[in-house]
Amino acid sequence: MLSYRHSYHAGNFADLLKHLTLIYLLEYLNKKDKPYCYLDTHAGAGFYDLKSTHASKTAEAEEGIWRLNDQQLKHPLLVQYRELISQLNTTPTTRYYPGSPKIASLLLRSTDRLLLNELHSKDHESLKAVMQNDRRCKLFQEDAFTLLKASVPLKERRGLILMDPSYEKKEDYAQVIKALEAAHKRFATGIYAIWYPVISRQDTERWINQLAQKLPNILRIEHCPLPDTSGFGMSGSGMLVINPPYTLQDDFKPLLSELEELLRQGTPGKTKIQQLT
Ligand SMILES: C[S@@+](CC[C@H](N)C(=O)[O-])C[C@H]1O[C@@H](n2cnc3c(N)ncnc32)[C@H](O)[C@@H]1O
Repeated sequence: MLSYRHSYHAGNFADLLKHLTLIYLLEYLNKKDKPYCYLDTHAGAGFYDLKSTHASKTAEAEEGIWRLNDQQLKHPLLVQYRELISQLNTTPTTRYYPGSPKIASLLLRSTDRLLLNELHSKDHESLKAVMQNDRRCKLFQEDAFTLLKASVPLKERRGLILMDPSYEKKEDYAQVIKALEAAHKRFATGIYAIWYPVISRQDTERWINQLAQKLPNILRIEHCPLPDTSGFGMSGSGMLVINPPYTLQDDFKPLLSELEELLRQGTPGKTKIQQLT
């Protein structure tokens, strides 16, 4: 039984890093005419109202997307991200926030495909409603790790797999590594983007080391607006990108510095971008 609902967390600081990385990777794939496939293994509800009772209860957008209100954004990716969100809103303050499937549907071309998977029945229903007019989408309601294995290689032989688990079960961490290993064996050239939370610094480092021992060519991107703890709440989050575009690291350095300033909570935040070996 899944209890995590992304409607409580949409538009938080972690969504910013994840969705900026997603936009960058999709635009990279858009540079070539050849069609590709986007597979979202943990798709969520697709679209969120930041004034809903769920979102209002946690008010996480206040330390996330709402920090961008009235700011002079410099990095072109931040400008693009804000423009994309403003297409969905009629007021300058963001009320409606796109989840990863909606962002992808706005950026993919008519020849590309979206495979969207969400296990939670309520969120799956919402996702279905959000995507109902998009004929490029195929929806699934399966276990993400099983579905990933069955879906690769993607028939286009070009694609992005976003893996964004809620990690509400401890086993999810081991499952991510196992599923990625199996998928990478079948589809070694795909781009894989995996989101992770930083809750306990020690556990995060241990898990990333394990993953890097099993999988090659990973770029780690991390942003922590809060100081490390040994396991009390999320102090930051990161993305692991397997087979990253060679431009990603250099393009993201100034973006991370800007993000760090925009999302600062008291003490200066910390960011990191590094190729893992
Ligand atoms: C962080 S949310 C996804 C947010 C979404 N990717 C976005 O960026 O808008 C994680 C989602 O994974 C779903 N989920 C958790 N475990 C799953 C599993 N084993 N298989 C499929 N979905 C799962 C949860 O119901 C939740 O909606």
